[in-house]
Amino acid sequence: MRIIVFLIATQVVGCAAFWWSEPMIQPREDVSAECLNPPSDNPCLFYQCLERRFPCGANEYALKVGHHFCIKKNQHLPFFTPNGTKWLNETNICIRESLIPTYQLDETSCANIRTVGQNVMLDCINHRSDTGMDFCRFVGSNAAQYAELITIDDVSRLTSLGNPRIAARMIVNGAYCGGELLRNRLADLAGGFNDAVGSLLHIYQGLSSRWTNFWN
Ligand SMILES: *[C@@H]1O[C@H](CO)[C@@H](O)[C@H](O)[C@H]1NC(C)=O
Ligand SMILES: *[C@@H]1O[C@H](CO)[C@@H](O)[C@H](O)[C@H]1NC(C)=O
Repeated sequence: MRIIVFLIATQVVGCAAFWWSEPMIQPREDVSAECLNPPSDNPCLFYQCLERRFPCGANEYALKVGHHFCIKKNQHLPFFTPNGTKWLNETNICIRESLIPTYQLDETSCANIRTVGQNVMLDCINHRSDTGMDFCRFVGSNAAQYAELITIDDVSRLTSLGNPRIAARMIVNGAYCGGELLRNRLADLAGGFNDAVGSLLHIYQGLSSRWTNFWN
């Protein structure tokens, strides 16, 4: 009997993530033109609009990651090279525009916003400017600025959403593309973030040999 209870308990715990599908949220605010085309003095308004329409709280994608990184990237824009500024600005716009269909949904869940938000970040980071600038060149030519943009707080925000692939890509590829300076800076960061980094390794197998080379 005890064994059966144990088995059932482990099944329940193991499958809880699948059984507990997150509730759908109905919109609390209409789609607005201002939210779709944010004013230049408030370029990150969109994420506040997303949160107002589908409230998920301070620890979910819209505020903790979307709004946070939008503000931070805009504050840091002037410190990047001209090509880097252009690439980062385009990335910001790409993320916002890719989230518009989710913002316009008639209902959604916080889990869906979280998933879409993370996928959109990964897709937009992969974009290439018409100057030829891509993520790797961006990091390589702006290593010091990039290290300021992605601090330990930023990595913990990214991993808190449950998909460590984004943080892995930003750190592992960042180190790969960023040269000595970034390897040292990001090694400190990883040292303060061992648990997340350990699990990143398993999930992001394709990069683990690069990772091992960089951190050992
Ligand atoms: C970012 O891109 C938009 C659209 O092209 C442009 O209006 C804005 O001035 C750019 N911002 C910076 C800081 O380059
Ligand atoms: C950066 O911009 C310059 C023009 O200002 C261009 O010649 C160069 O190829 C660009 N570099 C990258 C890496 O995109």
